[in-house]
Amino acid sequence: MTAPNPTVTLQVNGTRVEWQPRNGATLIEALRDHGLTGTKAGCSVGECGSCTVLVDDRPTPACLVLVAELDGARITTIEDVADRRIARMKSAFISNGALQCGACTPGMIIAASRIPSGASPEEIRAALAGNICRCTGYASIIRAVQDAQARPDA
Ligand code: FES
Ligand code: FES
Repeated sequence: MTAPNPTVTLQVNGTRVEWQPRNGATLIEALRDHGLTGTKAGCSVGECGSCTVLVDDRPTPACLVLVAELDGARITTIEDVADRRIARMKSAFISNGALQCGACTPGMIIAASRIPSGASPEEIRAALAGNICRCTGYASIIRAVQDAQARPDA
């Protein structure tokens, strides 16, 4: 009889969870295995940013980290409803038409939500350099970030 995989304790979108991930599971695989399918896999090698989530509040490609190495970490995904910076960014992306196919959008919103307020278009572009969008041309995304930052409590 094989021993069960080790338990990993995480705080996921404000809820404490104990998961027994598959051997070698990345964070995005574990999230999706547990029904959190809002985070999208693109390249799976850390190049496109579509899988970006917050690990202890830092934007992180979820395809590059093994969930077994994250014991005790705080994970925030696009499904989080309590984070006001993410909520404002979601709303601004919609009102500025900053998405088309939507493949990049969850990761883009998570990354954009941690850009410091008052960033210039160039700084926003630099901060999102790891998040690739093949559809929008980025102008509407940069407008959305500036719009979100101009909203109350940004
Ligand atoms: S899927 Fe993780 S960076 Fe592309
Ligand atoms: S909206 Fe299609 S990849 Fe960004």
